[in-house]
Amino acid sequence: MDVTFKIRRRNPDLPDLAKPYWQEFLLKDVDPTDRVLEMLHRIKWEQDGSLSLRRSCAHGVCGSDAMRINGVNRLACKILIRDVGDKVQVEPILGLPVIKDLIVDMEPFFDHYKQVMPFFVNDDPLPADGRERLQTQADREQFDDTTKCILCACCTTSCPSFWANGHYVGPAAIVGAHRFIFDSRDQAGGERLDILSEPNGVWRCRTIFNCTPACPRDIEVTKAIGEVKLAIRKGTNVGIIETSAIH
Ligand code: SF4
Ligand code: F3S
Ligand code: FES
Repeated sequence: MDVTFKIRRRNPDLPDLAKPYWQEFLLKDVDPTDRVLEMLHRIKWEQDGSLSLRRSCAHGVCGSDAMRINGVNRLACKILIRDVGDKVQVEPILGLPVIKDLIVDMEPFFDHYKQVMPFFVNDDPLPADGRERLQTQADREQFDDTTKCILCACCTTSCPSFWANGHYVGPAAIVGAHRFIFDSRDQAGGERLDILSEPNGVWRCRTIFNCTPACPRDIEVTKAIGEVKLAIRKGTNVGIIETSAIH
């Protein structure tokens, strides 16, 4: 089949191409099971080597090829041509500065992520017998979903609250915080909840729900945000109070 790609492009280094513009490319002999990422490679390698995009693993693991495909945030390596049809529109994800073509500056996104202390905190000595810090299966289950995040930014850059206010920490950062807030072995849940109680924290979420269908890892993002809101309202770390850790 023939497929037409319409790609949003921009090259700030060249005055003639500094403003965003659309460019079309026709690809022939495309198989419906080809992935969008492979087709972007074909465009770059066969038609226009100046096309810029970010990708690495090509298997939905690294999270580097998030882009807006036919108006929806997707990982280009996980989407097949049969899912998007013979006219494919590709744009950079929204709400982050465009560096070139489909590449955005991810620094503001990672700055938000770093704000929420996305790392394990426990100053107690390890168990004397040298074992790991154990927890029950029920404890582990509380944050299982949010361990799956690959920091692709599909959720945050699909969120109208983030588009309206780039200072909003965003759903990905809240997912990152959730993973540790509800870990019964962690000791910094209260600090993270304080951070997320700030004006640009979790209450900027208006439950618009764009983030959940945008997630390529099928994380229930809005549910995780709701659990964090509830924990703040209760004024405590629900995970630690309601479950028991094994040490
Ligand atoms: Fe990507 Fe999902 Fe993580 Fe958001 S929660 S950054 S969409 S993997
Ligand atoms: Fe945005 Fe998701 Fe909340 S789209 S408003 S973070 S439910
Ligand atoms: Fe790694 Fe798509 S290239 S997730």
